Amino acid sequence: MAGNITFTIIKPTAVSKGYTGPILNKIHEGGFAISAMKMLFLTTGEAQRFYEVHKERPFYNDLVSYMTSGPIVVAILKKENAVEDYRKLIGATDPAKAEEGTIRKAFAESVQANAVHGSDSDENAAIEATFFFADMERF
Ligand code: CMP
Repeated sequence: MAGNITFTIIKPTAVSKGYTGPILNKIHEGGFAISAMKMLFLTTGEAQRFYEVHKERPFYNDLVSYMTSGPIVVAILKKENAVEDYRKLIGATDPAKAEEGTIRKAFAESVQANAVHGSDSDENAAIEATFFFADMERF
């Protein structure tokens, strides 16, 4: 059965360009409720741990540098079928391939600076949400 939470990051470029509000608006219009949210600046060690699954990939070091280049906004989103529905709302990883109306089509500039992260499975949504939020920060 599909889970009812997903986890998202609004990435450094999107935050610095002032897209946090417009992205949250799209998330709201997409029918998601915010279950937890905060703004923070990742350390290198934290980014390395969060993206550990990608550590053998050629883009890993660049990804860690990028994600520690400025503040990010992290959130847990609630909705029936959250993981799949949010991936539809954000569009393809490569914004050049993202469909019209998606968050990445509107706000991303490259595969790396692709505006937002979205969990790829219910299992990862739970792991990622727990990475950033204590139980007392979740509603
Ligand atoms: P995200 O959803 O945060 O998960 C891993 C990130 O790695 C992904 O978004 C992209 O920003 C980045 N990424 C994935 N593939 C590539 C790639 N081929 N080159 C550079 N960055 C990538």
